[in-house]
Amino acid sequence: METILVTGGSGFIGTNFIKFVMENHPRWAVVNLDALTYAGNPENHRELERDDRYTFVQGNIADAGLLEKLFAAHRFSGVFHFAAETHVDRSITGPEVFLNTNIIGTFKLLEASLAHVRSVPDAPFRFLHVSTDEVYGSLGFKDPAFTETTPYDPSSPYSASKASSDHFVKAFHRTYGLDVVVTNCSNNYGPYQFPEKLIPLVILNILDNKPLPVYGKGENIRDWLYVKDHCDALVRVFLKGTSGGTYNIGGGEEKNNLAVVRAICDLVDKRTGRKSSSRELISYVQDRPGHDLRYAIDCAKAERSVGFKAQYSFEQALAATIDWYLDHMDWVRSVQTGAYRKWIETQYTTRGVK
Ligand code: NAD
Ligand code: DAU
Repeated sequence: METILVTGGSGFIGTNFIKFVMENHPRWAVVNLDALTYAGNPENHRELERDDRYTFVQGNIADAGLLEKLFAAHRFSGVFHFAAETHVDRSITGPEVFLNTNIIGTFKLLEASLAHVRSVPDAPFRFLHVSTDEVYGSLGFKDPAFTETTPYDPSSPYSASKASSDHFVKAFHRTYGLDVVVTNCSNNYGPYQFPEKLIPLVILNILDNKPLPVYGKGENIRDWLYVKDHCDALVRVFLKGTSGGTYNIGGGEEKNNLAVVRAICDLVDKRTGRKSSSRELISYVQDRPGHDLRYAIDCAKAERSVGFKAQYSFEQALAATIDWYLDHMDWVRSVQTGAYRKWIETQYTTRGVK
């Protein structure tokens, strides 16, 4: 049995990833290190409470003392680093925490990993850094998709902090020989996503009969990746990727925001038997400053070298995601705390939602 460290394992992708590992990789035990910010929910893993393969540690990735103790106690054979501040709009209103977690936190984790490798040089170890396509900046409608060699050109404090962390991860490989792999993926969706992000926000606003806020004209394009496909890709890159390598991961499903919102409206209406079309709730609001027009992912390298290919279509997985939210309203209400309501109110009042 090997033990892997998963940071941010109580957030959206980390939660799905731990469930994926518990089901599909019985030789891995998991230590989940999560600070439980507003985005982390320990209840997501309630079913694992008595499982010997799972340990939860509440703590900050920037806490060097804690990292040292965890590495000494568990002798991790790998790190899957998800922990981050992740919401672009929050990075615009309060960027500092993005630097502290995404840059300093990643740096501390790299230092702890390097110290560990130096103390047990013959033991297997790999650091997988989960990054984003946003580091590449914005594409025009007709530009070719991002490849692994597209120059970095981040627009928001969030993407700038992720770009910085990517550079540190690669620098630790080139300078100290740390075994790292970096993945840059597109917009994930699926179960357990915090309802500040577009897809769950729209689903829940329809159920509450609230306006569906579309930034600008709704013409911005994202590539949508079902979270289960992403988890599969991460394990493949960890097991088969080349040390020091970067791998783009995408769903091959480019859609503009208006099309995504309309698709959600139609699926929710069908599933709930709503009488009037929820498309009537669509409300165009003030655009996000520095809003990237389009992201598109060329993941030919991941297909070729680690055998990754997204298995879920957008239509199929969006319907499954909607079903999950409708079937887990207790989870939804438990994360819609006072702090959540305050964020939504401030964010959308400023943007001009009636
Ligand atoms: P999330 O916001 O849902 O969860 C982040 C988790 O990290 C939370 O559980 C939170 O408590 C934890 N965390 C935050 N700061 C921490 C700290 N200092 N120490 C320990 N834990 C901390 O995020 P997500 O959407 O699951 O994203 C996970 C990773 O994937 C991030 O690195 C993000 O940049 C990257 N990513 C996400 C997407 C996406 O569409 N969601 C796409 C591309 C890349
Ligand atoms: O591309 C990967 C990135 O995807 C990740 O790195 C980020 O962590 C993740 O949050 C996501 O970033 P986006 O900014 O693309 O996701 P978000 O769900 O916030 O917005 C998706 C699109 O929808 C974007 O063009 C902005 C728009 N939008 C968003 C919200 C919340 C709206 O039109 N209205 C909204 O209310």
